[in-house]
Amino acid sequence: MQNMAKAHFGLIGLGVMGENLVLNAERNGYSSVVFNRSREKTDAFLSGRGAGRDIQGAYTLPEMIAKLERPRRILMMIKSGGPIDAMIATISPLLEAGDLLIDGGNSLYSDTERRVAELESRKFGFIGMGVSGGAKGALEGPSMMPGGTRESYLAIEGLVQKMAAQVEDGPCVSYIGPGGSGHFVKTVHNGIEYGVEQILAEAYDLMKRVCGLETGQIADVFAQWNGMEELESYLVEITEICLRSKDPADNSDLVEKIVDVAGQKGTGLWTVISSLEQGVPCPTIYAAFNARVISSLRQERLAAEAVLHGPEPLSPAGLCAPDKAMAPIRDAAILSVITSYAQGMALLAAGSSSHGYDLDLSSIAQIWKGGCIIRARLLKRIQDAYERDANLPNLMMDPWFADQINRRLPGLRHVVSSAALSGVPVPCFSAALDYIDSYRSGRLPQNLVQAMRDCFGSHTYERLDQPGSFHTAWIQ
Ligand code: 6PG
Repeated sequence: MQNMAKAHFGLIGLGVMGENLVLNAERNGYSSVVFNRSREKTDAFLSGRGAGRDIQGAYTLPEMIAKLERPRRILMMIKSGGPIDAMIATISPLLEAGDLLIDGGNSLYSDTERRVAELESRKFGFIGMGVSGGAKGALEGPSMMPGGTRESYLAIEGLVQKMAAQVEDGPCVSYIGPGGSGHFVKTVHNGIEYGVEQILAEAYDLMKRVCGLETGQIADVFAQWNGMEELESYLVEITEICLRSKDPADNSDLVEKIVDVAGQKGTGLWTVISSLEQGVPCPTIYAAFNARVISSLRQERLAAEAVLHGPEPLSPAGLCAPDKAMAPIRDAAILSVITSYAQGMALLAAGSSSHGYDLDLSSIAQIWKGGCIIRARLLKRIQDAYERDANLPNLMMDPWFADQINRRLPGLRHVVSSAALSGVPVPCFSAALDYIDSYRSGRLPQNLVQAMRDCFGSHTYERLDQPGSFHTAWIQ
């Protein structure tokens, strides 16, 4: 062991993501030294999945530091929040100028902002890197979103470009921007992920409860959808897989046995908070977040079911068309997915200017095309849209997307109205429809809101026919 060459990079945290990233790096020619809080875990990895690889273990942080080539590059794959700060406090006295820490977890971007500033001021590098793709992605090629100084990024560029998923126009990683930009972009990625997951769940619910399809038939519909440019994606693909999976105990549909309460670890909430702070409407994403929250009130919902009555789900004419790939529900899903991406991209654009991140939206769409959870064929269209016009006010204004909206809006309307008449909640479909209808309205009723504000609070208003600020004595 003593004679081994110094390792290219260090990893702290041997959870499944950490293990897989280290194996990925090693496969790509980067040796490593791994450290985990518990010695047993390190031993188990080195004698198990890490055996026979160019991977050394370390039982203390000083031992890990001593085994690394300089400048040191150390990836932390540990719990975000307090544990990251605690690790920085412990390890930083051991580092030397130029050494670099990378946080590959789902950290709050404002925390990353603070850590970058703090560590850079001490002549260390700090990269906050969003990593998407789950355990499989980490091993085979994730999408990575590194933010920090460009100099720090350049120190890991060779490594991350090799580790990342590869698509036709390059690796799914690129320099995102300064400060917490990498984690900001990953957070918004997850907000879009929440939206798409909920949209697909709503489509399933309508096909099941309103159209009366069996789970296997619904899986067939998703399989068909996955053949379309607009919907082909990892999430549609795994929806089909989930719907086809059987409970080995009795060969029944496993999905029907799962408790209808969705968990969440924070990034969806952060996306919503950021959208509220930035004043960027993200109603589809917000609806997806709320849908998880209301799902968690399971006991209340079960009690309310007996008290609050709804209609019998009906199957309105033309809604359920298995022969036509459930065309209205398909169109509702396509447009809702488009709004989820449109809102996420608008939030990125706003965050870019308010935080000074100078984000390249086209390049972000490019690195989401492979490896990550929201990878989808549609991202090529998003990449092209921002390539054509980096200042596009909203994705829906790009000609290709505008055409999708105009062609498929009747389907979305049909679905939302039918769901309302059937008493089946479709929060994302409804939010998407409201978003599109509000955005395409040259005249909204906020003239009356302004009148009320001026009436009770003298807040003043502007007029269409004259410049200036006006106040009226509304109540004589
Ligand atoms: C990814 C995922 C990943 C994680 C989600 C789950 O991109 O690989 O987003 O980071 O699985 O954060 O989030 P929730 O538990 O909040 O659904």
